[in-house]
Amino acid sequence: MVVGSGGREHALTWKLSNSDNVEQVFTAPGNGGTPNNVSISVDDIDGLVKFAQEKNCFTVVGPEDPLANGIVDTFHEKNLPIFGPSKNAAQLESSKIWAKEFMKRNSIPTADFEIFDDTQKAKEFVKSYDKPVVIKADGLAAGKGVIVCDSKDEANEAIDTILTKKTFGDAGSKIIIEERIDGIEASYIALCDGNVGIPMATSQDHKRIFDDDKGPNTGGMGAYSPTPIIDDKLASQIQEKIIDKTIASMNEEGIEFKGFLYAGIMIKDGTPYVLEYNVRMGDPECQPILMRLDSDLYEYLLASYKGKLKDLPKLSWKQEYAVCVVLASKGYPKSYPKNDKITGFENIPENSFVFHAGTKKENESVLSNGGRVLGVTALGVTLQNAINNAYSTCEKLDWKNKSHRNDIGKKGLSYL
Ligand code: AMP
Ligand code: GLY
Repeated sequence: MVVGSGGREHALTWKLSNSDNVEQVFTAPGNGGTPNNVSISVDDIDGLVKFAQEKNCFTVVGPEDPLANGIVDTFHEKNLPIFGPSKNAAQLESSKIWAKEFMKRNSIPTADFEIFDDTQKAKEFVKSYDKPVVIKADGLAAGKGVIVCDSKDEANEAIDTILTKKTFGDAGSKIIIEERIDGIEASYIALCDGNVGIPMATSQDHKRIFDDDKGPNTGGMGAYSPTPIIDDKLASQIQEKIIDKTIASMNEEGIEFKGFLYAGIMIKDGTPYVLEYNVRMGDPECQPILMRLDSDLYEYLLASYKGKLKDLPKLSWKQEYAVCVVLASKGYPKSYPKNDKITGFENIPENSFVFHAGTKKENESVLSNGGRVLGVTALGVTLQNAINNAYSTCEKLDWKNKSHRNDIGKKGLSYL
């Protein structure tokens, strides 16, 4: 059973369905693209337990919320096999303050920071600080609780938004003010079993809504894999100084880390800094990464659960590039219309796969049902080929309020 309803969960469902060791994949609650949906929400942990018991499931958790709510701990209490980190381990994502303090005490490279719960003190700090800042709400805010500031006025406004206006509710009762690091960003995701973390393919997300990284942050408007920004030398540096160090330090603090450990990395002058941890696959990074994976994902997720990853061979990857372009509804990341009929699914070429995210099926039609609607993912022998293939497939799909970025992968091209 895959828990969740986004593009990442469609990709996990698709990849696990291709395993010879998996009989059937259920997705709870799933979307218009996942074939065997079970209508249990990700918050209904008791409902998910009951279904997993009835159908004898191995459970794979996609999003952060159920992990932060302790789904893995509850499944363990019931002796049900489940892939993902415990509630304690999920603090790396569910509390940015916890994560920053963890990095600081374990010398894991990250931007300098201070913590505040008082508007006045926060503003005084900004006034006295001589570098640009980023303001972050402590808790989970669907990727929107981070405000990158260009001026002190913007920083003061961000402090008001989070601490005074409580735009993110309790997630914003404390804030982090950290040094803005201007570098190149990439995603490094490792599959962990409590002892080791094996690297997934590298990738790069596109977080802003508009081309050339303009406009507000979103959950991610497109991603490609692998990214040339992380070469072999940098990859081993990230693996050793960040991934291995994180797993070892967590163990020293008595917390086992199992599941996907996602380090959002900023590279400046050749040095990688952790901007954030996530305790799950990225969305949309998951879509191009899994499109390139040749190994049987199920075997590896099971080995993570059992603490036996070191018994398995290295993951095997296609040499091709994969690019995922997110087709969104106009208005996202703010409010957007729903229930538009989407057409063109019969015209998808073999080099592409269309992962559904905010969609639902009604009779035989697929309707838009969210901000990020589809993740059009294509392979290509070069990054340019994969980009061309993905955008050519995007043109075949249509609905009234379709919108997307036109420059997914461009940063990788310019780097090459
Ligand atoms: P986060 O959710 O913490 O990854 O932040 C969302 C986005 O804000 C990141 O993907 C970066 O683009 C940006 N960001 C976060 N922290 C910093 C920082 N210290 N310096 C520059 N940009 C940042
Ligand atoms: N794509 C960024 C994330 O999944 O957090």
